[in-house]
Amino acid sequence: MEKTHKSRRKLIKTLVLAMVSLPLLGKFLIPRTQRKKGIFRVKKTDIPGGGALVFGEKKIAVIKTSRNVYALNLTCTHLGCTVNATPKGFACPCHGSVFNTLGEVIKGPADRSLKKLSVEEQGDDVLIVMTS
Ligand code: FES
Repeated sequence: MEKTHKSRRKLIKTLVLAMVSLPLLGKFLIPRTQRKKGIFRVKKTDIPGGGALVFGEKKIAVIKTSRNVYALNLTCTHLGCTVNATPKGFACPCHGSVFNTLGEVIKGPADRSLKKLSVEEQGDDVLIVMTS
């Protein structure tokens, strides 16, 4: 009888330990996914055709071409300054990187394109999903 209580206690301890430790282990073993920081809504009619609508405080540019709408994160991929919109794309005021309207690097020191944000068109609106 005593042995049954001990093995039951041991089983309960093991289960409690597993319940506590599995979520912690999962945090380290499962790759981090991008977390949604928020959803930003823009009226399609507010975006100039063939141009960009820039939201400086959110560091977002929403660009409308004849074929689609896309959004770029305006954080420079070199060291994180905010790039400025130019007639031909974007330019970083810190170290001079230049990006085209697709966010691709034209001139370094940045070596990666500006980050594209997930965009979903919903009726008259464009939803931009901001991730961390
Ligand atoms: S932070 Fe943009 S070029 Fe260095």
